[in-house]
Amino acid sequence: MCGIVGYVGRSDALEFLLRGLRRLEYRGYDSAGVAVIDAHGHLRVVKAAGRIEGLEERLRADPISGCIGIGHTRWATHGPATDVNAHPHIGGNGLVAVVHNGVIDNYLPLRARLEAEGYRFRSATDTEVIAHLVDSSLRRHGLVREADHREAAGEALVTGLDLAKADYAPLVRAVQEALVQLQGTYGLAMVLPAWPEVLIACRLGSPLIVGVSEGEHFVASDASPFAGYADRIVYLADHEMALMTADSLRVVHRDQGRIAHQVQVLDLPPDAVDRGGFPHFMLKEIFEQPESLRNAMRGRLDRDAATARFGGLNLSAQQLASVRRLVMTACGTSWHAGLVGEYQIETLARLPVEVEYASELRYRNPPLEPGTLLFAITQSGETADTLAALREMKRKGHPTLAICNVVGSTIAQEADGGIYLHAGPEVGVASTKAFTSQCLVLALLALYFGRLHHLSFDAGMRIIEQIEELPDKVRQALETNDLVRQIALRYCEANNFLYLGRQFNYPTALEGALKLKEISYIHAEGYPAAEMKHGPIALVDAHTPSVFLMPQGPVYDKVLANVQEIKARGGPVIAVACQGDRQVRQLADEVVEIPAVADFLQPIVSIIPLQLLAYHIAVARGCDVDKPRNLAKSVTVE
Ligand code: AGP
Repeated sequence: MCGIVGYVGRSDALEFLLRGLRRLEYRGYDSAGVAVIDAHGHLRVVKAAGRIEGLEERLRADPISGCIGIGHTRWATHGPATDVNAHPHIGGNGLVAVVHNGVIDNYLPLRARLEAEGYRFRSATDTEVIAHLVDSSLRRHGLVREADHREAAGEALVTGLDLAKADYAPLVRAVQEALVQLQGTYGLAMVLPAWPEVLIACRLGSPLIVGVSEGEHFVASDASPFAGYADRIVYLADHEMALMTADSLRVVHRDQGRIAHQVQVLDLPPDAVDRGGFPHFMLKEIFEQPESLRNAMRGRLDRDAATARFGGLNLSAQQLASVRRLVMTACGTSWHAGLVGEYQIETLARLPVEVEYASELRYRNPPLEPGTLLFAITQSGETADTLAALREMKRKGHPTLAICNVVGSTIAQEADGGIYLHAGPEVGVASTKAFTSQCLVLALLALYFGRLHHLSFDAGMRIIEQIEELPDKVRQALETNDLVRQIALRYCEANNFLYLGRQFNYPTALEGALKLKEISYIHAEGYPAAEMKHGPIALVDAHTPSVFLMPQGPVYDKVLANVQEIKARGGPVIAVACQGDRQVRQLADEVVEIPAVADFLQPIVSIIPLQLLAYHIAVARGCDVDKPRNLAKSVTVE
């Protein structure tokens, strides 16, 4: 969803702000804006509804420059996507410019009070109350006179001011006094013309990261804008405020005052967030899967004990052995991975697993006995519902673990322990490599829990060998790309698709349908193959293709019978089947052959042609694959 960038240093802020906003585009947005304090200490704001290109066009017509500034991509919540509602928002008479991620729940009473004080609102956003509140607080603290004085004196922009020598305590107090009035969530960056050397960032429930480099500081809502700019980062925690000049960084906590901050190394090469020669991030990420899977299993296969090992679970072997039930919670694609995990863990480890939508679990009160372990599965680590469900389960005393891709994200930090996917940045809004890595990590967990209980050493070794072969099987599945593109061209005009699979491939069917829906805007339904007789079969006609997942395995014959049922009603069938399957060739209109793998790994291989099918259909229909309409990469509102 919304993205924040900020810069203070000695270079032109706009260069980083625009580059950074481009790197945050994947989060989903519908307007963009920047605010820069120029060399004369004047606040310059440019905003535009629509894509960043529109903002850039305005900046070409009305160039601005300065060494400190903030930028934002907005995903509309309060008020439509218009120029006026785009961030930054200006407080009062221009004392402060604010960009905001999150939602202010009590913005209506605050707005009424500020209006009564004489503030005139320009936008329909909740964010504007923050700008006016800060303005009002600066005035109440008597800091406005200082602001006027400094502006009147025409003070030149001061870079390199040392925070240790400057007294920013009154400014911090004034901003904090404004923030305590807010109920809801915020990641905020602000610049104030009266303090043209200081960039401020504050966080409550919406992530913000500070980037550190020689003679400059950055802020962003995730680390991707920092690639090639900052080599060190500081994660802000809730109730923390960062004050940055070009050369100094100070972190202040609402209750504890100034606190020591931990600087971590950022290992993000500049090309990590580039398309690398592919026309879209999604295609690049689909083709990265052999490597991302290798990264997910690296160092986690223990041949001596024929099991998996994880560094960050933070639970003793005894605690893990006493786990009686797993609850997995997630949204969207990550929820589909959870369903794959349910099949894997129940089959290999014989542990009962329940998979709950995070948006349901957070408000449900299911009876959960001691011995229940919660897994929150999330690519971004910032999904609002998943975070809320995790917190609810922690509150009830259950141990919580995260399966997460983004290092240092809120869910990764709040869970008791966890497993990182190491899939690298996933920029395409449609999740691909994160899904396969999640399924693989869950397979490793199935092996781990299986070996804690009944699985023999030999069985464990066999599973390890099957897992090690997986990246090469996925590479072979990617060789279907040209064939899948041809199939996509034949069926791209269809208005409805069915995706059907059974057992391990039932979640694959759900995920294949979601991929098509998200990026091509075609209605698609995923179903357990046999269930289609109970309703969806009514949809079948000559214009409704059914995509069948039917690798060899215990339910192959059953799925083949379902294919017959669709064909008998004139529906076209696209089958994803194992190499050399002659039977299916006699029935299906199209066959995509994938290599055979053990059933618990099938979703990781059989999803590959479905990702490619969705991609090529979306391209053929002229859709914006990486930035599909209405969607955001990380859904940080409820
Ligand atoms: C995936 O293609 C979707 N964009 C979406 O369903 C996503 O998986 C969901 O929002 C959960 O995100 P998370 O994994 O970052 O928590």
